[in-house]
Amino acid sequence: MPRAAVIGVGHHVPERIVTNDDLAQLMDTTDAWIRERSGIAERRWVRPGQSGTELALAASRLALDDAGLPPAAIDLIVYATINPDHAFPGNGPFLQHALGIDTVGALDIRNQCTGFVYGIAAADGFIRAGTARTVLVVGSEIHSTGLDVSTRGRDVAVLFGDGAGAAVLSAETGERGVLASVLHSQGEFARELWCEVPTALVQGRLNDDLLAQARQYPHMNGRAVFQHAIRRFCEAIEEVLAAAGVAKDDVALFIPHQANQRITEMVTRRLGVDSSRVYSNIERYGNTTAASIPIALSEAARAGRIHRGDLVVLVAFGSGFTWGANLIRW
Ligand code: COA
Repeated sequence: MPRAAVIGVGHHVPERIVTNDDLAQLMDTTDAWIRERSGIAERRWVRPGQSGTELALAASRLALDDAGLPPAAIDLIVYATINPDHAFPGNGPFLQHALGIDTVGALDIRNQCTGFVYGIAAADGFIRAGTARTVLVVGSEIHSTGLDVSTRGRDVAVLFGDGAGAAVLSAETGERGVLASVLHSQGEFARELWCEVPTALVQGRLNDDLLAQARQYPHMNGRAVFQHAIRRFCEAIEEVLAAAGVAKDDVALFIPHQANQRITEMVTRRLGVDSSRVYSNIERYGNTTAASIPIALSEAARAGRIHRGDLVVLVAFGSGFTWGANLIRW
């Protein structure tokens, strides 16, 4: 049976760098508070009018170049984002058109910070089933236009950034490819990290009362998210390794979703792995939800941190709650 091998990766982030000091001009916060609590020094924000599809297109072209394939080789797009350019359709069809390719399938998925992990699992499933041979998996996010950048929203606003990453997956029967994936959700905690409106439960989807209460912005119970994240990151890693019968020590690189440097450090300690085997770039980008893992994966590959034959674990936790992991032989 074929499985999905990652044959190309790419990422693209907006040019505009927003530092913690820049945020301190907009709200009551400090560089020290943000660095100490999250490890973030700066993040990228799009220019007015720049779309998530545009970021995704740039990342996808780089991933295709890396794979040595033309866009026409893609026979399925899997696009993860919680920030689509429009209420509907999702960004998948926009990306298909922007790539100028045939009328291939475009699967839009959400799954928040776990979006890329779900996307890789879905792509691998399509390839194993024989439904697709070459799948473009994208994670792209624009948070900056949807954040409450006043003191009221500072607990969330300082954490998130914009960007995109992509991977090309191809059917292969050799050693390499996705060895195992695990996916989870726990909706009882959906409201611990969510954005309530626009909502189909309200006529007109939003109204002045909801806007006045700031319910169009993401809200988060930071402490609850923190605690669950550490537990679930560790569990997902153990579970995906067990599913493939692989030992922790055999993994060359762990690429966790970049939620918070303190979370990454606690997970690293709890797993008992050396921090040199855990990738981190949150200092430069903040949390880019579905884009964070593909950006990190692309950076790590370009920096020579991953070699052919290496075992790589992608692991994520986020709103839903959702969490999961993929184990990939490079
Ligand atoms: N700047 C300055 N002060 C801030 C602030 C900011 N940006 N955001 C919140 N505060 C204040 C709060 O108002 C609160 O003040 P109070 O005690 O006077 O009420 C205080 O800081 C909270 O501090 P503390 O309890 O020490 O916060 P924390 O250690 O729980 O850190 C988070 C807050 C959000 C950084 C932390 O809970 C966290 O990282 N959670 C997980 C977030 C995450 O990873 N989300 C994405 C998951 S995919």
